[in-house]
Amino acid sequence: MQYVYIVVIGLHVMAGVFWAGTTIAVGRDPDIRAERFFRPQMGAAVLVFLTGILLWYFFHQGVFSSMEKVLALGIVTALIAAGVQGALVGSASGQLAGADAAKESQLRAKMIRGERIAGGLLVITVLCMATARMF
Ligand code: HEM
Repeated sequence: MQYVYIVVIGLHVMAGVFWAGTTIAVGRDPDIRAERFFRPQMGAAVLVFLTGILLWYFFHQGVFSSMEKVLALGIVTALIAAGVQGALVGSASGQLAGADAAKESQLRAKMIRGERIAGGLLVITVLCMATARMF
């Protein structure tokens, strides 16, 4: 069983680091083509949620003390981050094909805004995840 925990936590942390890290990096540099990261980011987000649900089931089922409250805050900010990324970056990247230069720069500004909001929220998630057991 120990191996199952190791694999699930490993996948959870690696997918979470990829999702949060690329979101912050793409949000900071407008020259990075955000649309190339969108699908891998959403894939990582799905893996983070699936493994996170398993971790909750393994270690926190039926408990809601201060540690779980901190984890829950991180989960809520991750959920909002995924929604913002999907709504702003996802919709804009889908309209890039065939857009003229003016439209493209408008869409890119929207994508950067989405990545920055999501990145800020994911910073809160990472802090909550990393410190929850100290509460
Ligand atoms: C960017 C996103 C995320 C990152 C980087 C991340 C990272 C981490 C890390 C490093 C831990 C280990 C904490 C420790 O053992 O002290 C952890 C634990 C945990 N995470 Fe996440 N996480 C993320 C999102 C999520 C989401 C969305 C969920 C729920 C759906 C979740 C559920 C959990 C749970 C339940 C634990 C506790 C496991 C335990 O008790 O050992 N995480 N996370």
